[in-house]
Amino acid sequence: MVNRMLFHLVSLVPAAFSIALPQTFKPSPSNFPAKGDGDYAGGIFSIPLSELGKYAGAGGTGAEAPKGNGAKTSGSGPYPAIMLTDPTLPGHTIFAPKTPPADNLNLPFIAWGNGACTLYAGNYERLLVEIASYGYVIAADGNPTEGGSTSQQSKVQDMRDSLDWAFAGKAKKYGNIDLTKVTTAGHSCGGLEAMSTAYHDERVRRIIMFNIAIFQDDRRYLLQEIKVPVAYLIGGNKDMGYATSAKDYVLLNAGLPKLRANLDTGHGGTFQATNGGKQGKAAVAYLEWQWRDNATAKAYILNGGLAKDNWTVDHANWS
Ligand SMILES: *[C@@H]1O[C@H](CO)[C@@H](O)[C@H](O)[C@H]1NC(C)=O
Ligand SMILES: *[C@@H]1O[C@H](CO)[C@@H](O)[C@H](O)[C@H]1NC(C)=O
Repeated sequence: MVNRMLFHLVSLVPAAFSIALPQTFKPSPSNFPAKGDGDYAGGIFSIPLSELGKYAGAGGTGAEAPKGNGAKTSGSGPYPAIMLTDPTLPGHTIFAPKTPPADNLNLPFIAWGNGACTLYAGNYERLLVEIASYGYVIAADGNPTEGGSTSQQSKVQDMRDSLDWAFAGKAKKYGNIDLTKVTTAGHSCGGLEAMSTAYHDERVRRIIMFNIAIFQDDRRYLLQEIKVPVAYLIGGNKDMGYATSAKDYVLLNAGLPKLRANLDTGHGGTFQATNGGKQGKAAVAYLEWQWRDNATAKAYILNGGLAKDNWTVDHANWS
């Protein structure tokens, strides 16, 4: 029963439990912990892996799932980009334009978490290089290659380390980083980690959840503490994030701008397609709209572009 969909969260079960953290977070409608770290990989919005079976659903892939792996490129944007490591941020992988764009281009910053909270950022190279090629700097949890221990998972602190690094000015060598334009994002467990990292951290201004939302009904009250726009890019009704993102979407704070778009891929999304496929295209358009006020990109998201690409779109509260 361990299919591709489940793999994103369950492949690391035994080790995750052997290093269980102190049980400090007790969900209750009045418990708003000071920080989002919680007790498991993925933080307070995540679950103990032993409970995944209750929530994961039947799985499978949809018509829009990529057939095989696409080519690796430097991205389709104006600033050809690369994946690299940087000794000033150990245990992470950077995605950035190969050459720092001219100083008059402000580069938004993104902290990224991988599916299953693995330490294998290279698995998302196609998507993250694509985004970087539009003039973004991304620090992802983990390494370019899969080697090393597959029993380790990233934690909220790893994503926070990416933010601390950027806010300490250490990303400057990649260009003129704009620290008012900071997004946390991730796939599956990494998406939950993105939301947990954004929780009570005012440096984070946008959250993008790929193929995931809160699993547990008794944890959704925590969404009251999310004060920035949230975008869900979900894989349709075969995705474990489908029903859960519908529940989260309606519970986000009144008036908060929000987007929920579904493409029939299943939980694996389009990360392995060239340039991250349709999720790459959607993510770039969303970011270019949010951070550069690009009207073409906004129209792609809100006015029919996504739908033409076979996405089903819900959105609210955008001005
Ligand atoms: C907006 O995005 C489109 C599509 O990516 C691009 O062709 C255009 O140059 C962008 N406009 C501005 C003002 O950056
Ligand atoms: C939308 O889905 C249909 C049916 O699978 C497919 O034939 C078509 O190429 C898709 N459209 C786009 C823009 O990918």
